[in-house]
Amino acid sequence: MIYAANFKTNHTRASTHAYVEKLNSALSAKKPEDKVYIFPPTTAFDHYEGDFTIGVQNAHEAYNGAFTGEIGVEQLDEFGIRTIMIGHSERRGILRKSQDQVIEKFSYFEKEGFEILYCIGEPLSIRDIGEDAVYRYLKAQLNGIDISYEKLIVAYEPIWAIGTGRSATVKEITTVHKELKAMINRPLLYGGSVNLKNIDEIRSIEEVDGVLIGSASLDAENFSKMILGS
Ligand code: PGA
Repeated sequence: MIYAANFKTNHTRASTHAYVEKLNSALSAKKPEDKVYIFPPTTAFDHYEGDFTIGVQNAHEAYNGAFTGEIGVEQLDEFGIRTIMIGHSERRGILRKSQDQVIEKFSYFEKEGFEILYCIGEPLSIRDIGEDAVYRYLKAQLNGIDISYEKLIVAYEPIWAIGTGRSATVKEITTVHKELKAMINRPLLYGGSVNLKNIDEIRSIEEVDGVLIGSASLDAENFSKMILGS
């Protein structure tokens, strides 16, 4: 299983250090085949050590240059960061990133050999139309993306389930993951209100290879408990 923590705009470098310290003591008990990722805010980057991978929530598709407010590969190299999240619904929605912009970023970081955690997910208005509309929407978000990239991980995160406390049901996750798995031969994570209460049923779904966790990952002890299981 893959366990990815998306801190979003939470935590500082100091609190991330404290977090990693707590997480490390728990990780010694995790299953060897489990993989843990942490996506902290960029100001929290540092040279952390432990049985996890640090990724970046976003970066600009350039090595360096005149891109005010952005960071590029030069800044990621300083911290040995080789994993990037692309296409998160908050960036597509709140930050208004189009599919074309997402594709451009994906292509650049694929060429650079980064591991890419690529996020897709439908809004409630599409879910309300029905399953076929959901599949069409998700397929459009995979348009222009090299889904055979060997360092690709995909996360299915229905927008209506993110940060709302309302996770998709086991049935909803299963049907979408089955449909996606027929197209993509890469690890497929579920995200959207995954928490300590529902993680067991979610990880027991055969088509779920891991979870992308926001709110419930912010506390190191809670995240550790989710990884270690009951
Ligand atoms: P959530 O966020 O766990 O708080 O719903 C998930 C995500 O946005 O990746």
